[in-house]
Amino acid sequence: MAKLRVIHRCTECGGIEAKWSGRCSSCGAWNSLVEEAETVGKAAHGLLGLTPSSPPMLIDRVDPATSKPAPSRIGELDRVLGGGFVPGSVTLLAGEPGIGKSTLLLQLAARWQGPVLYVSAEESAQQVRLRAERLDAVRDRLWLLAETDLGATLRAIEQLSPTLVIVDSIQTVADPELPSAPGSVVQVRACAHRLVQEAKRRGLTIVLVGHVTKEGGLAGPRVLEHVVDTVLSFEGERHHALRLLRASKHRFGPTSELGLFEMGDIGLIDVPDPSGMFLADRRTGIPGSVVVPTIEGQRPLLVELQALVAESGLPQPRRSAQGFDQGRLSLLLAVMERRAGLPLAKLDVFASVVGGVKLNDPGADLAIGLATASALLDLPLAADLVVCGEVGLGGELRQAAQTIRRLQEAARLGFRRAIVPASVPGEVPGIRIDRAATLSEAIVSAGLIGDRPRQPPVRLVER
Ligand code: TYD
Ligand code: MG
Repeated sequence: MAKLRVIHRCTECGGIEAKWSGRCSSCGAWNSLVEEAETVGKAAHGLLGLTPSSPPMLIDRVDPATSKPAPSRIGELDRVLGGGFVPGSVTLLAGEPGIGKSTLLLQLAARWQGPVLYVSAEESAQQVRLRAERLDAVRDRLWLLAETDLGATLRAIEQLSPTLVIVDSIQTVADPELPSAPGSVVQVRACAHRLVQEAKRRGLTIVLVGHVTKEGGLAGPRVLEHVVDTVLSFEGERHHALRLLRASKHRFGPTSELGLFEMGDIGLIDVPDPSGMFLADRRTGIPGSVVVPTIEGQRPLLVELQALVAESGLPQPRRSAQGFDQGRLSLLLAVMERRAGLPLAKLDVFASVVGGVKLNDPGADLAIGLATASALLDLPLAADLVVCGEVGLGGELRQAAQTIRRLQEAARLGFRRAIVPASVPGEVPGIRIDRAATLSEAIVSAGLIGDRPRQPPVRLVER
């Protein structure tokens, strides 16, 4: 017999506490415990079971061909997935509301070979149809189900035998038999488990939409990440057309690949040459601007970094970093002040990565440093220059991963000069590589300060 009991579950990690408290003892999150009634006994266990009656199998009898990915036929999505969706897999597409999850999945549905069931638990069938018209996604064998009841989805799967099922979103479907509210951790987890079972049993590809909060966590159930095979996160800035797709978990391939899309009037389009796009609006000859070749997964990406320096009226000058870590900026400014003698302590410094990209690449340090030095001295850097390297606390430069690949991409896009750390070996055709051991040497090499450092510009020796 199934019984009910009251528990307190953490919406961050799914941990259970018998009593309410302000802080989850499992993950330490504050104010994350919510009261829930949980079914104990048979019913609860039935939900968690894996595929019923799967006997042990000898490893050499397992057919590897059944896990060959089926292409989604959306280039950038296939790039991130490493070829496509593996049959029987469940993928969670996570992103903030309005970022374009429903759009991407409707486009996926339109291109999928084979019958598709699109469960719209948030929008009416009419709304989905309207969007589909805009996206040119009205096609054969695309079934819409505007339902929040999980049972209806399972019955539709039984009836239609689709090869792709999209559930938009997992937070709005619910199993009415469970005594918890829709969207609660128990509901979301149980529904996801049930769908995972169905995917495994039928070799069906399922994509779940999950909304995330501003802070980046999955709204409510972090636990979902453990249930599914793949977690894709869809990111971007509201006011930019650029959308970035990454796998934060992927059982069938690498998690380092980055997919890029542009949101336009007819949905999302692939961006196969992102560097070209990022640099399209670049104006050269402006102080404070430099291009950095970064790398995302296997993909080199050239982006522009800009810095602006201004007299500060504040006792505590402002430091603002957009598109990279604020702490990194403060640290680099301190290194520039102490190791390269640039008087930045009393100035406001604003630095940003152009185009809405987020950089998490230590190789961008040198670019941040040179852009700031260029802004401070009001001297532009050469238009055909790229710079790349990590800056240490002693002002020394260290090479970033795959520097040569980055420079090859820079050469392809017409850049003719690079400043990199002294330890970078090799040459790249078409681009002159200048090596510098320290940030100060790089500043000289970039032509911002004459090569007799004893005679820097007057402003610099005031301190
Ligand atoms: P949507 O896919 O509904 O986002 P999500 O499912 O993640 O909440 O996309 C919402 C935004 O995308 C909305 O602001 C309108 C915009 N959009 C376009 O710019 N072009 C399009 O072709 C479509 C369908 C949407
Ligand atoms: Mg949506």
